[in-house]
Amino acid sequence: MQTLTLIQPDDWHLHLRDGAAMKAVVNDSARQFARAIVMPNLNPPVTTVAEAEAYRTRILAALDPALSFEPLMTLYLTDNTPSVEIVRAAASPSVHAVKLYPAGATTHSDRGVTDIRKTHEALEAMQQQGLPLLVHGEATGDAVDIFDREKVFIERTLEPLMRDFPELRIVFEHITTSDAVDFVLSQDPGRLVATITPHHLLINRNALFKGGLNPHHYCLPVVKREEHRQALLAAATNKPGRFFAGTDSAPHPRHAKESTCGCAGIYSARSAVELYATAFEQAGDFTHFETFLSTAGAAFYRLPVNTATITLVREDWVMPERLPFGEGEELVPFRAGETLRWKLQGANA
Ligand code: DOR
Ligand code: ZN
Repeated sequence: MQTLTLIQPDDWHLHLRDGAAMKAVVNDSARQFARAIVMPNLNPPVTTVAEAEAYRTRILAALDPALSFEPLMTLYLTDNTPSVEIVRAAASPSVHAVKLYPAGATTHSDRGVTDIRKTHEALEAMQQQGLPLLVHGEATGDAVDIFDREKVFIERTLEPLMRDFPELRIVFEHITTSDAVDFVLSQDPGRLVATITPHHLLINRNALFKGGLNPHHYCLPVVKREEHRQALLAAATNKPGRFFAGTDSAPHPRHAKESTCGCAGIYSARSAVELYATAFEQAGDFTHFETFLSTAGAAFYRLPVNTATITLVREDWVMPERLPFGEGEELVPFRAGETLRWKLQGANA
């Protein structure tokens, strides 16, 4: 196959940051995706509709005017999110979901939820309003092995949540294990779906240690064993509608990754669609590629499917070693210096 033409995709999980960093990355996403669910883990986080709307305005101002891109905003759930803010969010055309970060689970999650019971009023309102909950599915605490965090989260938090809120619609974000795949498949498709990143489809935990410690492959949830990667690949390619694209592209300056305490996050936005194509090619099956990238997410979020198309061509190109990241910073993209075999031709009206 030499070309792939598909409905323009959406990125259902994206970190755009703010200020100069955002200006440096937002157009990478806008060149490929029509819309993206924008994560609220700024510092301080986006906890109100007013903040989300102001952030959305800053994103739109940073866009290349030649590109059209719609940021779909989210709120950051805290122990104190009042139900009135949820009602406001549901009424806002800009806000599409609320994000649950267990406190301490990942980057800028210190204002996240310390105990899920503290959020019951907000969850009740979300259930009533039909506003989806996006979960960072990792149990926290030193007693939990980092490679088991997702599995333990399912048992301790997600399963009870689905029982206690039978109408709540949930996206299990950036899943990394066969346990998560099995759990999603065991539930009602209208209530639970999952996003999968390109990096979790393409690398396993060996990549963290290949040739020495590689901080550019460190993200949260951390990449897992090969058998889990295979389960994700099978889910993405064979279970249309239940799993869809969410890059979790999460840029950090190079010096913050290459330090004694490298931060979590992989920057995949420069080439996300090409990377997903590479993964589907590995599985040898493009049958559900368009569903995974371009239609399943829209269906879950109850949004129209995009009308533009994009075309990928079979062409080798080399990912730059570094990209500018604003204010003298630089960014090391996923697959830096490597040859990619699919190239995006650009969005067509
Ligand atoms: O690797 C990650 N980076 N995982 C997250 O959940 C957050 C993200 C970030 O914001 O850097
Ligand atoms: Zn994320």
